[in-house]
Amino acid sequence: MKLSTFVASLFTSAALAAFDQNRGGAVLKAPADSSFTSVTGTFTVPSLTGTSKLSVWVAIGDTLEQDIVLKGGITYDNGLTSFVAWFPDNQTDITTDVPISAGDSVTVTVSVSVEDKSTGTVIVENTTQSKKSTQTIPVPARADPATLTALAADWFVQAYQAAGELVNVPKFGTLEFTKASATLANGTVVGATGAGTFEIQGTSGQIYSKTTVASDTVTIEQQ
Ligand SMILES: *[C@@H]1O[C@H](CO)[C@@H](O)[C@H](O)[C@H]1NC(C)=O
Ligand SMILES: *[C@@H]1O[C@H](CO)[C@@H](O)[C@H](O)[C@H]1NC(C)=O
Ligand SMILES: *[C@@H]1O[C@H](CO)[C@@H](O)[C@H](O)[C@H]1NC(C)=O
Repeated sequence: MKLSTFVASLFTSAALAAFDQNRGGAVLKAPADSSFTSVTGTFTVPSLTGTSKLSVWVAIGDTLEQDIVLKGGITYDNGLTSFVAWFPDNQTDITTDVPISAGDSVTVTVSVSVEDKSTGTVIVENTTQSKKSTQTIPVPARADPATLTALAADWFVQAYQAAGELVNVPKFGTLEFTKASATLANGTVVGATGAGTFEIQGTSGQIYSKTTVASDTVTIEQQ
């Protein structure tokens, strides 16, 4: 227990410097001798209003810096859409396959094989209405194969900042990823326990979220 806490906090500080602070959620680091082949989570689409943007997504990040991230989820931007992406490549909108409305349950599962990382698979499923999209995505052209190590499992709520302005966070209340788990290269399924947490932060230090992690749940509570 002590060891995993230590590893998680080490990882938190390494990753914090690497990506923007508009995200709240959890990042689980793979054990030193392993990597992830799959990450999943289920959430209920929050009821959102206003002009500020919000995304909710599940992902496999490759290096600790998370420059290459295979992800899927939903975005609120004056309306709800669903997407898949292998960042830094552009998102693919899959809303016609998986329509999104507040209150329904969405499951996202991202997978990549250990041997062949030329493509990744993202499944976004509207479990309330049995609408499902399975997308096979080519690895981003500028991804360095040496960095495709699948070391991070991510469950995130992402807010957005308008150029130099404070982050604007639509009211999402409490977003809970349930059935959160990740599969290791040897087939072992692990929960989110030990994941490092991140909070949505304003440029002058305001904290807009409070994330807690349990074995199969990541809860992001708006502050
Ligand atoms: C990604 O989207 C931007 C903005 O729409 C576009 O300019 C760019 O060409 C796209 N890149 C790729 C690789 O499709
Ligand atoms: C689920 O699918 C139903 C039927 O197409 C649609 O009305 C609803 O908005 C969808 N919800 C989500 C969360 O995808
Ligand atoms: C799978 O890998 C993990 C991490 O290296 C290890 O803790 C676990 O014991 C392994 N399980 C099996 C069945 O080999």
